[in-house]
Amino acid sequence: MGRVVIKSLPDMSQARNRVRRPDFRREDIVVPPLTKKFGEGRTYWIKTFGCQANVRDEEILSGFFEAAGMKKAKNDEVADIVIINTCAVRENAEEKVYGEIGKHKAHSHRDPNFILGVCGCMMQEEGMAKKVMASYPFVNIVFGTHNLPNILNLVEEHLARKKDLIDVISYPGDIIENLPSVRLDKYKAFVNITYGCDKFCTYCIVPYTRGRERSRDMEDILKECRELVEQGFQEITLLGQNVNSYGKDFNNGTSFATILEAVAKLGIPRLRFMTSHPWDFSDEMLEVIAKYPNIMKCIHLPAQSGNTEMLRLMGRRYTREAYLDLVRRIREKIPGCAITTDIIVGFPNETDEQFEDTLTLCEQVKYDAAFTFIYSPRKGTPAAAIKDNVPDSVKHERFDRLLKVVEAGVISHSSEMVGKTYAVLVDGPSKKDPNVLSGYTENNKLVHFVAPAYLKGHIVSVLIKEDHAFSMFGELVGDPILYLADDLVKALSKEESVLAYNEAKRAYEEDEEIASIRNRIEDAQKAMVQCAAHSDDVGYQKAKNEYTSLMDLYKNHPVVLNLETAESQLRPLLEEIARGLA
Ligand code: SAH
Ligand code: SF4
Ligand code: F3S
Repeated sequence: MGRVVIKSLPDMSQARNRVRRPDFRREDIVVPPLTKKFGEGRTYWIKTFGCQANVRDEEILSGFFEAAGMKKAKNDEVADIVIINTCAVRENAEEKVYGEIGKHKAHSHRDPNFILGVCGCMMQEEGMAKKVMASYPFVNIVFGTHNLPNILNLVEEHLARKKDLIDVISYPGDIIENLPSVRLDKYKAFVNITYGCDKFCTYCIVPYTRGRERSRDMEDILKECRELVEQGFQEITLLGQNVNSYGKDFNNGTSFATILEAVAKLGIPRLRFMTSHPWDFSDEMLEVIAKYPNIMKCIHLPAQSGNTEMLRLMGRRYTREAYLDLVRRIREKIPGCAITTDIIVGFPNETDEQFEDTLTLCEQVKYDAAFTFIYSPRKGTPAAAIKDNVPDSVKHERFDRLLKVVEAGVISHSSEMVGKTYAVLVDGPSKKDPNVLSGYTENNKLVHFVAPAYLKGHIVSVLIKEDHAFSMFGELVGDPILYLADDLVKALSKEESVLAYNEAKRAYEEDEEIASIRNRIEDAQKAMVQCAAHSDDVGYQKAKNEYTSLMDLYKNHPVVLNLETAESQLRPLLEEIARGLA
């Protein structure tokens, strides 16, 4: 492969290494000269497979490309640089990637300046980078998850040397802050709190593709979340392969409960988190989730199997009983909390009885939603070395049986939603019908309803009318335009002059001296009225003098003057808005 320069290749033994401590760095973006020239007026496109960690990586890659002067393309056909961001978690995820790379052959032959990059978890597998370069000679850059912050330098080197490049390091990984980012959504944001995974479940490739488990500094997370709140985001999802482990590496008592509570206090309307490993789910976490209304009452709790022996072979570190006990604790502390899960069917040598345990677990828990997968051996993981005696046909049969049990559980919850009203964060028009909006309830149920598209990004009330098991159909409650009016009120309540007025008003209402002056003014007024009724001129004059001097005292009181100033500063703003609306 004379065209290809190999800068680094992945190595499973390095990927397994957990010795090196992560390095914390803040990086400034430097756009190298050829990349800057390439970037001017050009466009990028990123196709992402896999989980939210990859989605967040796409946003960071976009940030780098935009820093280099590029804009997002209308589609991949017209883009000047396309990056395929891959997932390695199961074989079928990989097959989709091959198809996607192949799609760009003609584009690459047509345009000599076109750059095609392939990155992400799949590239972290041993042998994969070379295989991709050899099978698809039009791929220009292959890079790994740890090389992502170096993307502009890779583009530079490709442009300078006119060579294709492989740069995939395997190492425990660092924490790099100040990375650029362009959010894919205006209202919902993902925020990484931990990277990597140290659980090493025996079937799973993630600990090898993403490095050791490491927590971001709390201040960096809070700064990112604070900015999102200020920008008007409605929902934050805290991300980690296992969020429950947050802060363990600091050894100072910081835990996931600490960061969850701190983010909830920032006032984001909706806060979610994923994923929680059932093994280290603390009571403290449950208390925080229960305490804050803006933490969504929905927990993704991957069970993987309902059989203790299977769980042991999977390296999951909990038993069926411990899992069920955790479900019981969740339901006790957070009544009505939705619980969702991931299940793997057909782990090597799984017996019928062991599979039955998974079915009964699903029957008992009655999940609100479940992602079900047929086990897929991942090269380099311990489970891939186990000789498997279960035929594929049996695995598929079990998978179908599991789907039916899962569906019954889902329906048991969704049918109860009919006739009730739920708060729904509107994602926008549904893909199938632009007149129908879609969004999610607090318990993460997809809801469709007819309403104007301008409600995108609003949290609205929807009365559920029909249960379609995995989604619901509902009816908007209230006048759509009034949701916009509510927004105006909310936006206004954050205005400095409104805040100043509220503060001055509060001080006025709480001031005891003012209260007493006002009482005395009232008494003087009453005395004046009574004296006038009885033609008591002397009494009247005395009461009037008292009234005048009290009014003087009142008008010149600093708290009253302060309220008047605050009001006179707020009035022009309100008048301007009213004029604008009229
Ligand atoms: N960190 C998360 C999950 C990451 S992968 C967690 O531990 O919950 C998402 C899901 O993919 C896993 O929960 C598991 O159910 C599934 N999965 C992972 N490796 C798999 C494999 N080799 N075959 C089939 N499913 C797998
Ligand atoms: Fe994979 Fe287990 Fe880590 Fe989840 S916890 S990413 S399943 S190794
Ligand atoms: Fe896939 Fe990597 Fe996520 S393997 S599931 S994209 S961490």
